[in-house]
Amino acid sequence: MIPYGHQSIDESDIAAVVEVLRSDYLTQGPVIERFEAALCDVTGAKYAVAVASGTAALHAAAHVAGLGPGDLVVTSPLSFAASANAARYVGADVAFVDIDPATLNVDLEQVPRSVDGLIAVHYAGLPVDLAALESAGRRPRIVIEDAAHAIGAVTPDGLVGNCAHSDLCCFSFHPVKTVTTGEGGAITTNSAKLADALRRFRHHGIERDVGDPAWRYDIGELGWNYRLTDIAAALGASQLERLDAFLKAREAIADRYRAAFKDDERVLLPPSPPHGTRHGLHLFPIRVGHRDEIYEHLRGAGIGVQVHYVPTYRFSSFSAAAEPYSAFPETERAFSTLLSLPMYVNLSLPEQRSVIDELRCALDSQTLS
Ligand SMILES: Cc1ncc(COP(=O)(O)O)c(C=O)c1O
Repeated sequence: MIPYGHQSIDESDIAAVVEVLRSDYLTQGPVIERFEAALCDVTGAKYAVAVASGTAALHAAAHVAGLGPGDLVVTSPLSFAASANAARYVGADVAFVDIDPATLNVDLEQVPRSVDGLIAVHYAGLPVDLAALESAGRRPRIVIEDAAHAIGAVTPDGLVGNCAHSDLCCFSFHPVKTVTTGEGGAITTNSAKLADALRRFRHHGIERDVGDPAWRYDIGELGWNYRLTDIAAALGASQLERLDAFLKAREAIADRYRAAFKDDERVLLPPSPPHGTRHGLHLFPIRVGHRDEIYEHLRGAGIGVQVHYVPTYRFSSFSAAAEPYSAFPETERAFSTLLSLPMYVNLSLPEQRSVIDELRCALDSQTLS
């Protein structure tokens, strides 16, 4: 099966991990700080805090931002459930805002003025235009970016993760993402206070600087064990050295898909990034009629296409937040047509050719039937 996403691991990654395995520190060692410094370099943020997953990053961000019971947080329903769960973990209420079909990101014009927080998901890697939200005077008190898909992406205000128009920005390093640590995540911010709070939150709320003797520490607040291991951080730091090469490989794959289907009216290609910006290209989600039949055809041909996403409000555990599906017409339209084609660094030319040929074949068989 050709999967829709897959990690790219080379000998330098393996050597970096082995070096940690031979060292004294498998966790809580020096490689975490190295990885965090590298994350600051590739995002332009002042601080980066590595954690155990993208979900942990979102939970930590919502907590340190001060979101909690009585707050209303909105997000896009066209995302993985963790984006909305971030609000629920801290006891805030979550509501969904329909997407803009031109970007497949949350429709900023529909973000109510009265909300306390926005979790802005850069769907597939295309950055949400947070500058527009701010210049329209509609920025909620707290803005958290969910950049699980968007490491390396660029906005008119610089790299995603620089928090130019947000409080905190969250990343995921799951193996299907552009950069992996196995499981892992991180939060970037420009606030020293938020960065300190994030470090405490990932480590049981422990505060060390409470005076002599050296073994003394305080736990002044509830925290978790959301630490990333040095083993994982070594893999992440090694991968970050190839971030630009990873993005260039993804751009070449996207260009070939675009060239193959640009004149095919049966395929709606994903939105391109505006001039002067860069797409993170975690996913390559096309839109097609007869999506389910085409999905079955491609799966039958050994091509692991996927649907991103089932809108979060459709899950039974979100029923309390749910309005009728008809309240989200653009999300529903997207959901019924979206299909993610394979997109990963090591997708070979013959493999991509077979994805293109099989997709044409699937489209033809629907056109003829
Ligand atoms: C948009 C989005 N947010 C958050 C997450 C959660 O990341 P993780 O799987 O690292 O917990 C994912 C992962 O699939 C995601 O796609």
